[in-house]
Amino acid sequence: MSHTDILLGLQWGDEGKGKIVDVLSQNYNVVARFQGGPNAGHTIHFDGKKFVLHTIPSGIFREECQNVVGNGVVIDPVRFEQEITNLRSAGYQPERNLRISLRAHLILPSHRLLDAASEKAKGKEKIGSTLRGIGPTYMDKTGRNGLRVGDVFQADFDQKYQRLKLKHLDIVRSLDPSAQIDPIEENDFFSSLDNLRSLKCENTEYFLNQIQTQGENILAEGAQGTLLDVEFGTYPFVTSSNTTAAGACAGLGISPRRINKVMGIFKAYTTRVGSGPFPTELLDETGQKIREQGAEFGSTTGRPRRCGWLDLVALNYAVMINGVTDLMMMKSDVLSGFDDLQLCTSYLQNNSSLSELPMDLAQVVPQYDTLPGWNTDLTNMTKANQIPPQLLGYIRFIEQFTSTPISLVSVGPGRQQTLFL
Ligand code: IMP
Repeated sequence: MSHTDILLGLQWGDEGKGKIVDVLSQNYNVVARFQGGPNAGHTIHFDGKKFVLHTIPSGIFREECQNVVGNGVVIDPVRFEQEITNLRSAGYQPERNLRISLRAHLILPSHRLLDAASEKAKGKEKIGSTLRGIGPTYMDKTGRNGLRVGDVFQADFDQKYQRLKLKHLDIVRSLDPSAQIDPIEENDFFSSLDNLRSLKCENTEYFLNQIQTQGENILAEGAQGTLLDVEFGTYPFVTSSNTTAAGACAGLGISPRRINKVMGIFKAYTTRVGSGPFPTELLDETGQKIREQGAEFGSTTGRPRRCGWLDLVALNYAVMINGVTDLMMMKSDVLSGFDDLQLCTSYLQNNSSLSELPMDLAQVVPQYDTLPGWNTDLTNMTKANQIPPQLLGYIRFIEQFTSTPISLVSVGPGRQQTLFL
């Protein structure tokens, strides 16, 4: 029986989805990205090498696996070409196992200009966007102005491009009168379109539905995380797409009736890049220690990530919204060497205790349960029976709190450093 599973992040992104897709992709015939764009950075380590993918699905390293960039993704053709070139120089032939939706929207140089101008205009209230043009591109999509991959095959593409660019410049100049589009960037944009045209661009919704009918398995690979979802995240400090399970159906053109498992990835602690509320954030040496031990610096922007304890109120919310069937806990090794570990099990707001995630997280104070830490190096472990009792206690506590089983525990970046429970 064919099945379509979804794998997504349950926190503010950077949970380690790239590694897990890479580990699991052998069970799937297709890996498909359904939302986001080059704001994502999925890091994969194998054979002593490290790759960071931004738009291309993480199954690309397995030749027998087809990879789909779905209609819900936004593509910056210049960065896309760079990713293709990097893969080729490492000996891969992405043209063989990559398919791109004709309906995916394009990020223009003027979208990035708009992103920067809008962040600048927000001043202290800025989102902390990756400035990849994501927000303005999704705005044009829902505003029905956007340009799509299929448009680059049409004779009037240049006219459509100029029209949209002028519209963007009008808006940008109302915020910053001196704003200009760099002619080099514009030139790069047009030359990168040839790369796009040379790849397999098609109605990927037909491909995905046909292979389901033929009994093949699909893995939908989420980007960012549930708390960055435009509906259910910490709005307005969110990204502009649906990062949650529902986004997979809309962003690929597959029916909810076809979805089998929803695998939710979370880190054994919490991180966030950019602005916005973060109740369990640690601004002390403990936070610093997590950042250093976990090498918590953005794979897309290099920014230091904000670090804090695991927030089970938020995790429970993410499990509910996505209908998570399996939890996967990442970076457990990073928590080695702490005497005690704190887990946020409720919030306090105006003297009342909350077990639900409120619309505005800015005013809540986290309430913690404390569990004993472990001092064991986990990074050489290969089997679940090697897990120290304190980590097992941590796992069982989370499972009980969320009423969801943890099926995988990651103890390092490599493919082998993965324990299946
Ligand atoms: P944007 O999607 O680039 O506009 O960024 C909006 C917010 O989402 C900012 O706080 C970013 O730091 C955050 N964000 C976007 N993509 C990622 C990601 O892949 N990982 C973590 N945070 C992200």
